[in-house]
Amino acid sequence: MQRLDDFRLKMGRHELVPIVIGGMGVDISSADLALEAARLGGVGHISDAMVPTVTDRRYQTKFVKAKQALYKYNMDSEDKSPVKFSLEQLTEATRLHVEGTMARKQGKGLIFINCMEKLTMNAPKETLAVRMNAALDAGIDGITLAAGLHLGSFALIEQHPRFREAKLGIIVSSLRALQLFLKKNSRLNRLPDYVVVEGPLAGGHLGFGMDWAEYDLATIVKEIVQYLQDEKLEIPVIAAGGIFTGSDAVRMLQLGAAGVQVATRFTVTKECGLPDDVKQEYFKAGEDDIEVNQISPTGYPMRMIKASPGIGDGIRPNCEAYGYLLDANGKCAYVTAYNREVAAHPGERRIHVMDKTCLCTHMRNFEIWTCGQTAWRLKDTTHRLPDGSYQLLTAEHVFRDYQFSVDDQVALPEPTLTVA
Ligand SMILES: Cc1cc2nc3c(=O)[nH]c(=O)nc-3n(C[C@H](O)[C@H](O)[C@H](O)COP(=O)(O)O)c2cc1C
Repeated sequence: MQRLDDFRLKMGRHELVPIVIGGMGVDISSADLALEAARLGGVGHISDAMVPTVTDRRYQTKFVKAKQALYKYNMDSEDKSPVKFSLEQLTEATRLHVEGTMARKQGKGLIFINCMEKLTMNAPKETLAVRMNAALDAGIDGITLAAGLHLGSFALIEQHPRFREAKLGIIVSSLRALQLFLKKNSRLNRLPDYVVVEGPLAGGHLGFGMDWAEYDLATIVKEIVQYLQDEKLEIPVIAAGGIFTGSDAVRMLQLGAAGVQVATRFTVTKECGLPDDVKQEYFKAGEDDIEVNQISPTGYPMRMIKASPGIGDGIRPNCEAYGYLLDANGKCAYVTAYNREVAAHPGERRIHVMDKTCLCTHMRNFEIWTCGQTAWRLKDTTHRLPDGSYQLLTAEHVFRDYQFSVDDQVALPEPTLTVA
C-alpha cells in the first residue's frame, strides 16, 4: 500500500515532499505555517493579500493609518475612485513580509507567495506588477498566480532578473483556463513550473459557478494530465480541494498528479494565523454549517461557515484604509450594495447588506470563516478537552499525517491535557 512519502515532487533541481500548503489570505497561511512546510521538505505559501495590513500587525509599520489619513476626506463619498495605493509603500510592505519570512527559512523545502489577480486595488496592472516584482526582489522562492486567469501576469515580471529562475505556477480549475494561459504566454518562451488544479471542494474563492457540485477534482486532474502528456509538456500537476487524508493524496498521485495542495486541515494548527477562538469554530462546524455563497464582491463563489460574523453585516465600506477590491474604475460590488441599502433605509443607524460583504474589512478581522468542504471533519482529527474545546494541532503533526498515513487513517496528536 502506497503512502505519500513514496513520491517526490520534482521542480527543477528540487526534490520535495509532495505536500504544498496552499495560500490562505489574509495571513491565515502565516509565515510560521509556511516555514514549517519548508522545514519539513514540502512547499509553504505566504499570501500577498492585504500585505500592508499584515506588516502593520507583524512589523509595526503604519501603512493603513497613513492611507486612511490621506483619504479621510473621501470617507462619506460614494465615489471611491480617488483612493489609490502608494506603489512605494506597497513595495516596502511586500519587501518586509517576504524578507521577514525568507530570513527564517530552514530545511530543503520552498516558500511561495500566493498572488491573487482579483485584488485589483484600483490599478490592477500597476499594483500586481509591484507586488510580484517586489516579492522576487525580496527573495521569494516562487509565485503562485491565483484567483484569476492571469493572462498578462508573466509579462509584468518578464524583465525581472529572476523571471526564469524563480518557480512560477498558476491555479486553474479547468483545462480551458490552462490552455488560455499557455496560449497567451507562448511568446515569452517560459512555461509555468507547476500547475495547481483546484477542484470544487476547496476553501476560499472557487473557480466554478454555483453549479460547482457538478464538477469533481479527479476528472479535471485526469483531463489536464492527459493534455500535458499529449502536448509533451512536462509541467507537474498539483491537485487541490478536498484532500483530507494521505490516502486521498495518494489517489491523486496515482492519477498522474505530482503533488497535492492542502489547506483546510492546517486551519486548526497553532501556526495558522486565525485567532484561536476562530479555530474552535472550524472544529465545531458540522456539514450543514458550511455553505457556498455569492457574497464576495469579487464575483467568485466562496465557501464559508454560515455563522461567519461578516455575513449580512452592513459596515461602512473601508476603502480609504483598504480598498483591495476596487476595480480599475474604483468600483466594488459591496460599495454599490451598501449605498443601495443606505438609500432604502434613510436615517437608520445600523443597516444590513445581505448580498455582498465588505471582504477587506472582514477578512482582515477574521470575520469571514472561509474553509474547504471537509472542514466538518476537523473535529475527528484531534481530542476534545474537558472544557468542550478541541486540542489544537501542530503543523508538523498534520504535515506528517499526510506524508505517512495509509488506509485513510488520521493520526490523533499526543494529548496535551486530560481528554474528555
Ligand atoms: C481559510 C482558507 C483561505 C484560503 N485563501 C486562499 C487565498 O487567499 N488564495 C488562494 O488562492 N486560495 C485560498 N484558499 C484555497 C487553498 O489555498 C487551497 O487551494 C484549498 O483550500 C485546498 O483545499 P482544502 O482546503 O480542501 O485542503 C484558501 C483556503 C482556506 C481554507
